[in-house]
Amino acid sequence: MSVEAASPILLFDSGVGGLTVYDALREVLPEAPVIYAADLAGLPYGTKTEAQIAARVAGLLGRMAERFRPRLVCIACNTASTIALGMVRDVLEIPVVGTVPAIKPAAALTQTGTIGLVGTNATIRQAYVDDLEAKFAGGKRLLRVAAPGLVEAAEAKLRGAPVDPALIADVRDRLAALAENAPAIDTLVLACTHFPLLAEELAAAFGPQVRQIDGAQGIARRIAHLLEGQSFSASGPNRFIVTGPISGAAGLEAALAARGFGPAEAL
Ligand code: DGL
Repeated sequence: MSVEAASPILLFDSGVGGLTVYDALREVLPEAPVIYAADLAGLPYGTKTEAQIAARVAGLLGRMAERFRPRLVCIACNTASTIALGMVRDVLEIPVVGTVPAIKPAAALTQTGTIGLVGTNATIRQAYVDDLEAKFAGGKRLLRVAAPGLVEAAEAKLRGAPVDPALIADVRDRLAALAENAPAIDTLVLACTHFPLLAEELAAAFGPQVRQIDGAQGIARRIAHLLEGQSFSASGPNRFIVTGPISGAAGLEAALAARGFGPAEAL
């Protein structure tokens, strides 16, 4: 089946975190039309139950797939992917790419054998993460902490607010406490798409010896591979769509313009 050149890629997250995937995607597919959908009315996902997240994500993506006719959907959110990826794949007839914690590359890179994983409360308790750990990080120590405050901080930072260093220091200290007397963490998995937006602050708190790993580049390459040979023609700037009132996008104007989006729109 041929895909129309104007058919977009739909990137979906609870908020602005998926823009870290969007940035990587634009590096490899600069011509591809993109619709970015931020479920600001549902943000944050990380403190919701599995049932709430699955119902919300599957419902919204079904609705948006009908409305925007994307050629591919990317769930640019670890929380939604680790819970609802299978369900969304069952209901959509187009390729669906998820975002899962980058445990495999982290396990290949660590020298000390101690890996930190920072995610949302919902992500770090998923069996999906247990499976990745068992499959790829056998013999290593994978220390998990939830950091819902960092989601809020990343949202605020993109709207121009400063980040409180105490928030980042708290994450570092909680991980260090979990490590106890084991060798120190040298690799940090950013298991939430919001967290690479805080890369500088994380580097300042953890130090240069700790390498940060996220999945954005890998996801972008996966999307480019799945769409190989397809043609792209954008009929205007990329679209940034939010659930709930449009005022939720206030303050994002500069961040959106810098990424080639038109003004935010309500779903
Ligand atoms: N960006 C989402 C993730 O990757 C989570 C943010 C939220 O809690 O809604 O997990």
